[in-house]
Amino acid sequence: MKYIVQPSARIAGEISVPGDKSISHRAIMFASLAEGSTRVSGFLQGEDCLATLHAFQQMGVTVDYGSDDMTIHGVGRDGLQAPQNALDCGNSGTSMRLLTGLLAGQGFAVTLVGDESLLQRPMRRVCDPLNSMGARIDTAAKGTPPVTIHAVDSLQAISYHLPVASAQVKSAVLLAGLFARGVTEVIEPKPTRDHTECMLQAFHYPLQRSATRISVEGGHRLHATDIQVPGDISSAAFFIVAACIAPQAELTLHNVGMNPTRTGVLAILQAMNASIDIHNHAVEGGEPTASITVRSSQLRGIDVPPELVPSAIDEFPILCVAAACAQGTTRVTQAEELRVKESDRIAQVARGLTTLGVRVEEYPDGLTIEGGPLTGGEIDSGHDHRIAMAFSIASLRAADTITVHDCKNVATSFPGFVETARSVGLDITLHEHDR
Ligand code: S3P
Repeated sequence: MKYIVQPSARIAGEISVPGDKSISHRAIMFASLAEGSTRVSGFLQGEDCLATLHAFQQMGVTVDYGSDDMTIHGVGRDGLQAPQNALDCGNSGTSMRLLTGLLAGQGFAVTLVGDESLLQRPMRRVCDPLNSMGARIDTAAKGTPPVTIHAVDSLQAISYHLPVASAQVKSAVLLAGLFARGVTEVIEPKPTRDHTECMLQAFHYPLQRSATRISVEGGHRLHATDIQVPGDISSAAFFIVAACIAPQAELTLHNVGMNPTRTGVLAILQAMNASIDIHNHAVEGGEPTASITVRSSQLRGIDVPPELVPSAIDEFPILCVAAACAQGTTRVTQAEELRVKESDRIAQVARGLTTLGVRVEEYPDGLTIEGGPLTGGEIDSGHDHRIAMAFSIASLRAADTITVHDCKNVATSFPGFVETARSVGLDITLHEHDR
């Protein structure tokens, strides 16, 4: 599947983006383990979250679908059943890493598999701390999937200093901690997204936390609660940048999740002189939301503050497109985690921007981008949804057609991306046959 995107100059309208991916995954997990039934509205019907949903259905959880919501009937903390087959996490690192933690102490054996991109991604970062809790988890020789979880009698709580700032590793250890004897504690090097902590509290699970230290005692119950999933700021980011870089633009995005551990993209764009107005603040199901109005902006290059990297980690592909359209130089550092996402995003962004005539220098932990004019060109997404969407948006400043190859994975996080993009003014068409 490929996108062909012709240059266009105007972005306008009012849109909502699909539900938050991180929150949707967790809603299924906690609703499945809870006592009682949980109604989830705004759930992201993307392939990643559907992989998590199917995994729980394979373990005996039943789901009723309404017209714009679904009800998950919890089986209680000890009610999951051994699945008949391996659980297929597709492209989703969040499904695989969080499920590994949640299933480590269930008392049954299970194998987790995934697609070509997921099979390259590091899993020792979750298996090592879980094995030190008494789990028995194997990976392939390079520490990559498949992940095989063997049955164990019990887990023992640990205190764990995360070696990398990763919400997935933090969450995997906390999820295992729900089934461990004693109090499991995780200490983060830098704060990362805290949806696991927020949602555990929403399901009335006792939890202690300070800025970078979280602890849970095993053995308590989760109680069903209704969850309203806000729009995903990581999906909104593509259109926020679209409106910043388009020569003429005024765009409003409604109901965007504004959890402070996720808003780094707004802080970075504002430091680059973006015209962003945040209004209609609300709280939906324990998570803050707002409307965001963005106008065409003269962006300036900056040194991205390293402390903002974890709270914007998924937004770097599109932030790098913004940097290419800014006056001056933008430097991204201490962002080596970008190399182990759905693709090596530092390499993939550098390659794509170079194709469009932008001067880029790549480092092990980041890159430098010189703002300047963009040509058209042929871009390879590297099986990465966020690379595909970011380079489609670049068409707003390109001199010629941009063809983005390998766009199928956009469906993992942003079903309806092409329709939304067209509705605000992008000249984008989807072609089922690629190369
Ligand atoms: C996620 C955490 C982040 C992020 C991913 C979703 C989560 O990954 O990149 O898209 O839902 O916990 P890391 O924990 O690897 O940084």
